[in-house]
Amino acid sequence: MKVLRTPDEMHAACWQLRRQGRRLGFVPTMGALHQGHLSLVLLARAQSEAVAASIFVNPLQFGPSEDFAKYPRSFERDRQLLEAEGVELLFAPAPEDMYPPGATTYVSVEGLSEKLDGRSRPGHFRGVTTVVSKLFHIVEPDLALFGQKDAAQVAIVKRMVSDLDMAVRIVVAPIVREPDGLAMSSRNSYLDPQQRQSATVLYRALRRIQSLTEQGERRAEALISAGRQVMAQESGVRLDYLEVVHGDTLDPVPDVSQGALVAIAAWVGTTRLIDNVVLPGRGQ
Ligand code: PAJ
Repeated sequence: MKVLRTPDEMHAACWQLRRQGRRLGFVPTMGALHQGHLSLVLLARAQSEAVAASIFVNPLQFGPSEDFAKYPRSFERDRQLLEAEGVELLFAPAPEDMYPPGATTYVSVEGLSEKLDGRSRPGHFRGVTTVVSKLFHIVEPDLALFGQKDAAQVAIVKRMVSDLDMAVRIVVAPIVREPDGLAMSSRNSYLDPQQRQSATVLYRALRRIQSLTEQGERRAEALISAGRQVMAQESGVRLDYLEVVHGDTLDPVPDVSQGALVAIAAWVGTTRLIDNVVLPGRGQ
């Protein structure tokens, strides 16, 4: 596996691969890798002939009071994991190579970027879409893999790709969970044992909602209130949002008959966690 440090080096290395006629799959990450990330690599390998990944803790998607400085960084371990999974090219740039002084161009998906996490994290999705479009220009992948864990990110990246005619196919991978249901996340490492235990409440709330829909409840309002009740049982956890929305528009839906995305975000101590489940529509 080659490690490339600058956009020019990575662009040239990806071009060499594609010139051989190999379909290139790309997995962008911020490192501190876990099985969720590695599941994307596995899927990339199954659907392409060469895999590139990136590790870049993108300062642009962190707010001023967020955890950019303390975000977990474990480059050597990550490098070994990606190499063992068969990644051929790893892009790991420095912030100044991605954002040289004077860079003033941003990519922003209006409307969608202000919903769900975008409401609590102003500017977050502008940071995501700017870096993802830069990465797509550098790598020029045939397909790029994203996790359903970040459901709003998926909707926004898909919209960007469609609106800007980017020639990349977005492939979405299911959420990988710990045995007790907690969605894997690099931020789980911030939790102490007590918080780690409490954090399972997000998935418990989602499961409660899922089981109510299986019993025939279709009203979003009733589902949200049942989910809130489960959340209220954990005193150390503060709900940020619990919403029932359309998976593409991220707009609230009053009724889940046609299917819906149930998305949740909550603070466990000072750690913000997100999770979601997709409710299938009738007949699906
Ligand atoms: P990061 O949080 O490192 O996640 C990288 C990719 O892994 C994302 O597509 C995310 O949805 C996926 N992922 C994380 N946890 C997962 C889980 N438990 N199951 C399945 N997939 C999971 O998302 C980002 O980085 C950044 O915003 C990025 C797209 C790299 C842009 O900076």
